[in-house]
This record gives sequence, structure tokens and C-alpha cells, in this order.
Amino acid sequence: MSDLQKRLAGEAAALRVEAGMVVGLGTGSTAAWFVKALAERKLAGLRCVPTSEKTADLARELGLPLSTLDDTPRIDLTVDGADEVGPGLALIKGGGAALLREKLVWEASARCIVIADEAKVVPVLGAFALPIEVVAFGHKTTANRIADVLMDHDIGMPARLRQADRGVVRTDGGNVIYDALCQAIHDPVRLADDLKLITGVVEHGLFLDLADEAIIGTDDGVRAIL
Ligand code: 5RP
Repeated sequence: MSDLQKRLAGEAAALRVEAGMVVGLGTGSTAAWFVKALAERKLAGLRCVPTSEKTADLARELGLPLSTLDDTPRIDLTVDGADEVGPGLALIKGGGAALLREKLVWEASARCIVIADEAKVVPVLGAFALPIEVVAFGHKTTANRIADVLMDHDIGMPARLRQADRGVVRTDGGNVIYDALCQAIHDPVRLADDLKLITGVVEHGLFLDLADEAIIGTDDGVRAIL
């Protein structure tokens, strides 16, 4: 994990923003570099839709004008980080527990750019545990259903309830997160479909066919994956 690479990717993505745009602001340490670089540009007429309370706080602090998805349902450009960037720009996201709002904002965007450091680029998705957002009510029952789906995908490890120092992690929407260590996701489309069918699963961290471009930070600049 390189902070320099994350910063370079964030700064390069900020140059893609034009005055007057509605911009989706991602969540995480890489997206934070983008938010900072965007604020420094002081572009006129921006409206920014944050994907988490944490990003909203940062953007507010930096003086970026905030909007909501309901008030600005058409977003010109969203820039966000990822936990893994796989072939065809298939992504795992949600390490920062913001996957639901992120996916809502991505899906409302005309263009999505994913920014990441080089270590995030992988030949097969799945070494990073796949986050699955689950309604808190009856979440252990939902987790059993998730385990069945994972077994069907030859993934033997049950998903683990995400915990932090202060106990079970809650998302901005009040849900919990299960992390499924898949090792290798051979059929991400089928896994995504199967997980969405489980009652109690709100969303999963597979972002498929959503990213238009990746800007990858390197030690001496950036490279694009289209
Ligand atoms: C948050 C995310 C983040 O974009 C992802 O976890 C990457 O974070 P970072 O840039 O800190 O490595 O999906 O839900």
C-alpha cells in the first residue's frame, strides 16, 4: 500500500473534473486524496454528492459544496477508490463499509473513475475479503444463507461479521457487514446475482460493469486502464 501512489491517482483524477459538474465523491484513503485535490482546484459551480458521512465531513471541512443524490440525481463524474481492480475493471469495494451509498452514487453517474495504488490491481478478484452489507435484524440467519451461496461457489469459508474496537461495525445506513474471504472469484457475475437474491442482503461489494476507467498511481506517475 503506497500513500504516494494513492495521492498521485487522486490528484490526476481531480484534473478530470470541470467547472459546473455534479461530482460523486468516493470513500476511503485514496478518495480522500481526490477530495483534497478537488477542493484545491476551487472550480466554480460544483455540486458534490458524498458516498459516506466521513467523506461528507471531509468535503464540508474543505469548503466543497455538497448536495444529495435526491437533489442531484444525475451525476456527471464519480471518482472513488477500490479494494481490488480485476480484469475488465471488475472491482471489489466496501473495505470502508460505504459500498451501498457508493453503488447508489456510481449507478447514478454518467462516468465513473476508480483510483487506486498498484497493489490493488489483481489478475483474479477475491484475495481481499468481499464485503456484504446485511440488514441487522436476523443477520446471523442471513449469514447462514450467504454461507450456502458461498459453498455453491466452492468457497468453503463462511463470511465473518465485521468487528472493530468498539464492537460490531455499523454502516451509515445502520446495517452490518459480513466479509467473505473467497480467495478466487471465478464467476463474479453469478456470485453477484446469487448474493443479491438472498433476503436480508442489502448489497455486496462486487462492482461489475460500473467503472469506465481506472487511474492507477505508480511510484513515478499514473497509468490508465480503460
Ligand atoms: C469504501 C471503499 C474504498 O474505496 C476502498 O475500501 C478503498 O479504500 P482505500 O482507498 O482506503 O484503500 O470501497 O467502502
